[in-house]
This record gives sequence, structure tokens and C-alpha cells, in this order.
Amino acid sequence: MSVRIGDIAPDFEQDSTEGKIKFHDWAGGKWVVLFSHPKNFTPVCTTELGAVAKLKGEFDKRGVKVLGLSVDELGNHDKWADDIAETQGARLNFPLIADTDKSVSDKYGMIHPNASDTMTVRSVFVIDPNKKVRLTLTYPAATGRNFDEILRTIDSLQLTDNFSVATPADWKNGEDVIIVPSVSDDAAKEKFPKGWKALKPYLRVTEQPGK
Ligand code: BEZ
Repeated sequence: MSVRIGDIAPDFEQDSTEGKIKFHDWAGGKWVVLFSHPKNFTPVCTTELGAVAKLKGEFDKRGVKVLGLSVDELGNHDKWADDIAETQGARLNFPLIADTDKSVSDKYGMIHPNASDTMTVRSVFVIDPNKKVRLTLTYPAATGRNFDEILRTIDSLQLTDNFSVATPADWKNGEDVIIVPSVSDDAAKEKFPKGWKALKPYLRVTEQPGK
């Protein structure tokens, strides 16, 4: 089964390094990043988990809970956590699901059998406070993800929800944004009192609100 943008994130119950997780209860009303990695004690995964641990403060600032997943056993996760701390300079500070029966991986389509029928691919799901999937991303095993890009997409999604704006190609936090087409010029006058620049009637650029 695959999980797509706009779907309600499937609920599940599974063991983790921080005890049993009932996903929807655990998420509460928060944003969530759920990400899988192929295998413990592998080089790229080790760097990824360290990178996410170092960015924990950035996820916290945005009200985002982070949840990692692999199909390895729980005891195995704990031993590997020591290696991550030793080599990456950051200790795991978020739960890692031990999806040994692959029940969560199957629900979320994290196993792509033509790549590997035993390991999960590098999947990312950004889930909003209403449990709706807002972003999905899939990377191959040998390519480590850019977690700053995940933070950037969360900034964009939160701006869309809060201010009815979209973000252009290669946008970075603080740069100008785009007024979404569903906002009429009349409504935009109220929402964006500082005004906007209309490069085309459908391409209205304005200063990032709320910065
Ligand atoms: C890695 O994390 O380095 C890795 C994991 C599975 C396959 C290839 C690389």
C-alpha cells in the first residue's frame, strides 16, 4: 500500500526505543516527520540519524515531532545509538520504531520490493496536526537525505496554512513568497496590507508574512 499527499496517515502500534507507540495518540495535535532508513549499522544511515539528532532543536521550534523507523530489532537499535553518538557527535533524541514484523513499513509502502524486499527505502512523510500527509519523499539506499530541505518544506507548509502563501523554487526562509491563486486581489488587499508585486495576474509576489 502506498500513502499519498492528502491521505490521513495510517495509525499503527509498534515498539520503539521509547516504548510502545500508538501513532495517532503519540502525534497528538502536532506536526510529525516520520522517516524510514534501510538498516542499522550502515554508514549512510548512521550519518542521517546523527544529522536529525543535531537538528532536533529546529524541529522543536516548528512544533514538529520526529519519529524514525527501521525493520531492525529493538536491542539492535540501542547498540547502534551508541555508535551514532560516538561517530556523529549527537545522541539519539527521538524515538526509533523497531518494525520487525514490517507492519508499519507495509502500511506506508516503505518497502519497494524491486529495490530490496527486506529493507525499507529512505521514505519521509510530513504529517500535519490533523494527521493529513502533506509531503512524501523517497530516496535510494545509497543517498543520504538533506534534512535542512525537510525543515524548509515544513516552513513552506506552515506558511501556506497560516498565511495563504506558497513558496517559489529554491525559496529560503525569510525570502519573498507568492500569494496563492485562490486569494482574489480584493481579499489579498486585506491579507497583505503591505501590498504585492504582480509579475503576471497569477504571479503575485509579497514579503514573507510573520517573519
Ligand atoms: C547505508 O546506510 O550506508 C546503506 C544502507 C543500505 C544499503 C546501502 C547503504
